[in-house]
Amino acid sequence: FFSTTSSQNAIKTVTVIGSGLMGSGIAQVAAATNHKVTMVDQTDAILTKSLNAIEKSLEKVSKKKFKDDPEAGKQFVTDTLSRITISTDPAANIAETDLLIEAIVENMRVKHNLFAELDKAAPSHTIFASNTSSLPIAEIASITKRQDRFGGLHFFNPVPLMKLVEVIRIPETSEETFDALYQFSKELGKVPVSCKDTPGFIVNRLLVPYIMESIRMLERGDASAKDIDTAMKLGAGYPMGPLELADYVGLDTTKFIIDGWHEKYPTEPLFSPSEILNDLVARNKLGRKSGEGFYKYE
Ligand code: CAA
Ligand code: NAD
Repeated sequence: FFSTTSSQNAIKTVTVIGSGLMGSGIAQVAAATNHKVTMVDQTDAILTKSLNAIEKSLEKVSKKKFKDDPEAGKQFVTDTLSRITISTDPAANIAETDLLIEAIVENMRVKHNLFAELDKAAPSHTIFASNTSSLPIAEIASITKRQDRFGGLHFFNPVPLMKLVEVIRIPETSEETFDALYQFSKELGKVPVSCKDTPGFIVNRLLVPYIMESIRMLERGDASAKDIDTAMKLGAGYPMGPLELADYVGLDTTKFIIDGWHEKYPTEPLFSPSEILNDLVARNKLGRKSGEGFYKYE
């Protein structure tokens, strides 16, 4: 005996648009849990780089998961990679896609262009989801005619290690869509939480103001970067200090989030911009990905 609802809703094939930091991680965990994945980006060169990153990450995962059976570990890497197809065309395998996850640049206009095009191309059963960090899901979905089959699926960096997925519903999201997204997150081995479409959902609404407060502390000269990070790691049990974490997330991403919220909520002091942050981004010091941010990286 099995439930017809769950088999009707089961997500087997996934298209991930954007193969950067987040999209490649999402494609990886979906493929590792037996989903057929199409991973899309703008150029073949980017896609090749992403596939290499996935392979490296899978090797780390497999070393841990199959530590007593290296042959099975090798097979796990090969099988997972074989479930990922790459393409520069967002509509490549759309006719067979049960779920489309968007993880492209954090820009409403660019996301709207993509979703408007895909809404026409995708079959009616395809669910759309955005991995946006800070933009309202309702506004992204408003460009489509499938708002009942639209939700947020917010993953965390690094996707293969972070266990949480925020599942965001808008008023139009159907119960069936929400259940499918929630179930899919579990199938990936993640723990889903249900969120409303409020700025930053749960995690970023708490984490981004905390990171910004640490930058303001540095700006006031209250403590050094190293001491702020050491303090929060050893005094509050965080795996990374707030400035290390800002470098890890990307200073451009952090700036984009805070600027967007400041524009919408100008009187909220927790959302005020920071000169140090603006200056680092202007000098292309974007954190780990550019080799320098609050810290220097090899
Ligand atoms: N894929 C697979 N395995 C990986 C990996 C990856 N990308 N990165 C690291 N690993 C493995 C390492 O090989 C290592 O394996 P062993 O235990 O076998 O040695 C293990 O994971 C631990 O890695 P490290 O020893 O390098 O580092 P760590 O113990 O400090 O853990 C971390 C790394 C999980 C990233 C931890 O530092 C952490 O949790 N940091 C905070 C991350 C965080 O807060 N993320 C959320 C950011 S906010 C966000 O994402 C939302 C947004 O919208 C901006
Ligand atoms: P990224 O810059 O690493 O990757 C974005 C990728 O999208 C790039 O490879 C780019 O070439 C591609 N792209 C851009 N426009 C495209 C288009 N029209 N069609 C196809 N591909 C396109 O960015 P990221 O950090 O992976 O962030 C992606 C999304 O995930 C953003 O919405 C971001 O807010 C969100 N997010 C980021 C984090 C984080 O910690 N960095 C965490 C959670 C969510």
